Amino acid sequence: MRTQVGIVGAGPAGLLLSHLLHLHGIASVVIEARSRDYIEHRVRAGVLEQGTVDTLREAGLGTRLDAQGLRHEGIELRFDGEGHRVPMTELTGRAITVYGQQEIIKDLVARRLDEGGDIRFEVSDVRVDGVSGAAPTITFGHDGRRETLECDFVAGCDGSHGISRDSAPAGALEVFEREYPFAWLGILAEAAPAVDELIYCLHASGFALYSMRSPTISRLYLQVSLDEDIEKWPDERIWDELAMRFALAGSDWSPTSGPIIDKGVTPMRSFVTEPMQAGRLFLAGDAAHIVPPTGAKGLNLAVNDVRLLARAFDAWYARGDDALLASYTHDALRRVWRVQHFSWWMTQMLHRFPGDDEYGHRVQVAQLRNVVESPSYATALSENYVG
Ligand code: FAD
Ligand code: PHB
Repeated sequence: MRTQVGIVGAGPAGLLLSHLLHLHGIASVVIEARSRDYIEHRVRAGVLEQGTVDTLREAGLGTRLDAQGLRHEGIELRFDGEGHRVPMTELTGRAITVYGQQEIIKDLVARRLDEGGDIRFEVSDVRVDGVSGAAPTITFGHDGRRETLECDFVAGCDGSHGISRDSAPAGALEVFEREYPFAWLGILAEAAPAVDELIYCLHASGFALYSMRSPTISRLYLQVSLDEDIEKWPDERIWDELAMRFALAGSDWSPTSGPIIDKGVTPMRSFVTEPMQAGRLFLAGDAAHIVPPTGAKGLNLAVNDVRLLARAFDAWYARGDDALLASYTHDALRRVWRVQHFSWWMTQMLHRFPGDDEYGHRVQVAQLRNVVESPSYATALSENYVG
């Protein structure tokens, strides 16, 4: 088998890259370890920056997004039992859209398959070889056979646990990382959200986040310990903890509860791989970098990477111009590090760190108060959040 760009991973990065390349007349094959059903139901991100929405619309992927996406013009920061709205659109002219990552995946898979795209699901034992030469290959097991895909280039879009990053020659890539001493317990519930906008909440017991997916589905998160046993969190305990962390002074307001249809624990960490390229292997999305979800940035960064990469491949195939491929790392990393800083800043301001004392908590509250009372601080937060 031969293609122009071999893509490892059918997450948002790999699928969108395949679609954008198709729009430029460039052939690709996407290989994915999981089944179509699995990737279309994996619950993850929900917040899209305006630039991400624009990219999806321009690529002809706006129909369901425009019909079902929820436009938000502000967020709430809640601490000390009080809520404070940050009016993001008033401050920046831009907004975010809440639309589940798995809906983007459904849109992309349907579109690629409709247009004759080649996506191989449930592949095994994937290897990427020869990235230092002009003819890299991807080999994998599929339908009981071992296949070899010959490519001009390989795009490693296989997430933070993928194999692409390790296919670079030894010593070619450097990784910068930070692990946080806590995790998020996330739930999806059949419950009408009790709020119109997201709430980021600091409580002495830890962080909580109120988000949503639709007028009938809520998405909520609780900071828990790194080694948290999910078995110790029956539904009732989750709702009690959420009600306690989100409590408003002098009010009996609490999140609307309902049947929990998905539950999972995600550890919080950051890393950045530099460069994001080794020979003819280009890394994009979580394969190249991750951030803690407090800034809602991972999916947006993945979209930004593949937008740059598609443009660079187009220049190479259309005009033999390799300047944009050569500057891919430089062009992508500017935003990657901006987002690393913003995600770290949000995380340290909103979580309880083990060993923190009351002094640490009060400093965090002072910082939050400064953000909501100072238009400059609130604007800086908003600019980063809307992208
Ligand atoms: P992935 O989505 O991880 O896709 C990689 C794909 O590669 C997967 O389908 C995987 O099965 C496949 N794969 C892995 N290994 C192999 C292999 N060896 N061979 C073939 N295929 C392979 N981001 C936001 O922007 N906003 C948010 O609100 C937000 N919230 C989040 C909440 C949570 C709880 C979590 C966990 C993440 C959140 N993120 C958010 C981050 C966002 O989900 C990721 O950044 C995004 O999924 C990255 O996309 P990707 O395509 O790079 O990687
Ligand atoms: C989500 O809706 O899943 C979500 C929202 C905001 C975040 C992270 C996740 O910061």
